[in-house]
Amino acid sequence: MSQARIIDGKPLSERLQAEVAAEVAQLKAKHGLTPGLAVVLVGEDPASQIYVRSKGEKSKAAGMHSVTHILPADTTMETLIGLVEALNVDPTIHGILVQLPLPKGLDEKEVITAINPDKDVDGLHVINAGRLSQGLPSLVPCTPLGSMIMLRETLGDTLAGKRAVVVGRSVLVGRPIAQLLLQADCTVTIAHSRTVDLPAVCREADILVAAVGRPQMIKADWVKPGATVIDVGINRVPFSDPVKAAAGKTKVVGDVAYKAVSEVAGAITPVPGGVGLMTVACLLQNTLTAAKRIAGIG
Ligand code: GUN
Repeated sequence: MSQARIIDGKPLSERLQAEVAAEVAQLKAKHGLTPGLAVVLVGEDPASQIYVRSKGEKSKAAGMHSVTHILPADTTMETLIGLVEALNVDPTIHGILVQLPLPKGLDEKEVITAINPDKDVDGLHVINAGRLSQGLPSLVPCTPLGSMIMLRETLGDTLAGKRAVVVGRSVLVGRPIAQLLLQADCTVTIAHSRTVDLPAVCREADILVAAVGRPQMIKADWVKPGATVIDVGINRVPFSDPVKAAAGKTKVVGDVAYKAVSEVAGAITPVPGGVGLMTVACLLQNTLTAAKRIAGIG
């Protein structure tokens, strides 16, 4: 049984981060401009705390101005929108990211809509989503951007005409990645929880993107031999070892049954160590892009 090529996020994300850091240094030297990223975390979700810390650390390591606002879970919409509006007009900030999900009672759509679209480094504002859907320049959500870099690294310029199936229709991943695959001239299907015979639809894919948030849902017999599999899922599950599970220990798995699918696919992203690493690197790239656009450079 042949093993799929592993699409390792570590060297790819490190290369992208190094490229961003080099350009940040140049911007500072030539234009006196330091790209600034503000990350907002509301509440104490442990996974979100880890992601937000990583975003802060990596933006600083790239030479950016980085601020993290941590607000309590009982923050009101008024306070949160007030913070977003203050960041919108802060000249030291070029990128604003409000970590999702927000605690119950806070309206995510309304908060995202309050972000200045030019500073929307998550690419979630309807202006950016609309521009993406029309093939216009926009800030593109980081996970889809990172997934496309991994695909191009694997398949080069052979994406045109390939059958791509995206499982999941979220605003954060499924929909924007489908738009990017369409821009790359793939024939794109978006599958979801109401899709009839999902395994058969997945088996049609030369490129299979799993973005459902269901641990190890995509099985080996759902995958066309030789297909390229991009696993966007980050799911925390108990260990299968009963001793570790009893101790409350958990591990991170993707939406793909990695071991079995690796024996069928041509190439596959691991979890952890795959798309997740690219997401943060693309956030840095988006912050750099936003800073240059706002300053009218390049
Ligand atoms: N939560 C999980 N992924 C993301 C992301 O890419 N952006 C934001 N804002 N929240 C997230």
